[in-house]
Amino acid sequence: MASLIDLLGARITETVATTHDEDGVPNAAPMGVLKIDDGVYARLWEGSTTLENVRSTNEVVVNFTRDPVVYVETALGETKRRFVKDGRLRDADGWVRCDAERVPDEEERDEVTRWRLAERERHVEERVLPTHSRGFASVIEATVHATRLEFKPELRELVEHHLDVARKCGGKREREAVELVEELV
Ligand SMILES: Cc1cc2nc3c(=O)[nH]c(=O)nc-3n(C[C@H](O)[C@H](O)[C@H](O)COP(=O)(O)O)c2cc1C
Repeated sequence: MASLIDLLGARITETVATTHDEDGVPNAAPMGVLKIDDGVYARLWEGSTTLENVRSTNEVVVNFTRDPVVYVETALGETKRRFVKDGRLRDADGWVRCDAERVPDEEERDEVTRWRLAERERHVEERVLPTHSRGFASVIEATVHATRLEFKPELRELVEHHLDVARKCGGKREREAVELVEELV
């Protein structure tokens, strides 16, 4: 039986989670997927729609995309529903549909819960040669920090730094993503 763990190299891999509520209303948001020993987990912060949906359905689709704009829009935008098609991310390179089970967190904190992800079904649309873009990485960094600015305003300097790197090293899509962060934050 295939397991999502085969696809993960790092301890934390950034993905976009698609979920839905009990009435089938879809949602999308970036989510780090953790590989720990032989298990795959998500750690979800209280207050997100993703957590609310996972709590009520025990399901999540883990989507893989190289599009920086999708990360920014699904993290910070108001119209992220349009990125979801048939329960998964439109134009993703691949996605894995998972059952999600709540498990205790070693670093137990009121505001975070840990979920074990078990693969049910996978689709791989695109296989590409690995390349590394500091521009892409910096959009992701800027976006993560941007989602936390509300609680940690001092992160603004880091957001600015990563946007500078993304402008310098990124391609067209990264520059569009930079403009979006500036507009949405
Ligand atoms: C790259 C990236 C990774 C993220 N990883 C997580 C995560 O693992 N857990 C989490 O709760 N929030 C994570 N976030 C923050 C959420 O995506 C963000 O709070 C989002 O607005 C939640 O949207 P929602 O309320 O529609 O679920 C991440 C953000 C980014 C940009």
